[in-house]
Amino acid sequence: MNIEQIFENNKAWVKEKLKIDEHYFDHLAKGQSPEILYIGCSDSRVSAEEIMGISPGDAFVHRNIANMVPNTDLNVMSVIDFAVTHLKVNHVVVCGHYNCGGVKAAMQSADLGILNPWLRNIRDVYRIHSDELNKIEVENDKYNRLVELNVQEQCVNVIKTSVVQKAYRERNLTVHGWVFDLKSGSIIDLKIDFPHILSKIMEIYRLD
Ligand code: CO
Repeated sequence: MNIEQIFENNKAWVKEKLKIDEHYFDHLAKGQSPEILYIGCSDSRVSAEEIMGISPGDAFVHRNIANMVPNTDLNVMSVIDFAVTHLKVNHVVVCGHYNCGGVKAAMQSADLGILNPWLRNIRDVYRIHSDELNKIEVENDKYNRLVELNVQEQCVNVIKTSVVQKAYRERNLTVHGWVFDLKSGSIIDLKIDFPHILSKIMEIYRLD
């Protein structure tokens, strides 16, 4: 890729936006009030705004390897806190994707250096659901199911945070688990039963 081309693309994009609305960038510069916090994978093929068909300003976005929400990661925890407490988003989305390299890497018995502690969080998801996963004989089906279960567990991690528990009580904030299917381009809603999971985990993880 010619990096100079990016600046040409950008100029064309500015022109296009101003053609539709001459005040477009004035509005953009004024501030943000996104409705959605999107937590997704850094994978280059899963571009948040494009797959959701939304525009700048619509979603607060956090991406990392395999869309993880580890409670000791200051980065994702700060993003959740800022989006829920200050931006007052009403939806938190965790979006994984099939063929996720991070999930595949976690399933291999290899020393991956600095990635080891990160990927161990995915191995923990496998351990929690090993009864179900070990019954799946086709390797690729097992990976895909782990992608789904990982999204589910990261939703649970979102629900464990005090800011999300508070926002649920105060304004009915919802948590959603999705998987993006690279082969079809579709977003699949895993239909995470947020109130049910919340009531179940509150027995242990209630924070106030
Ligand atoms: Co991925």
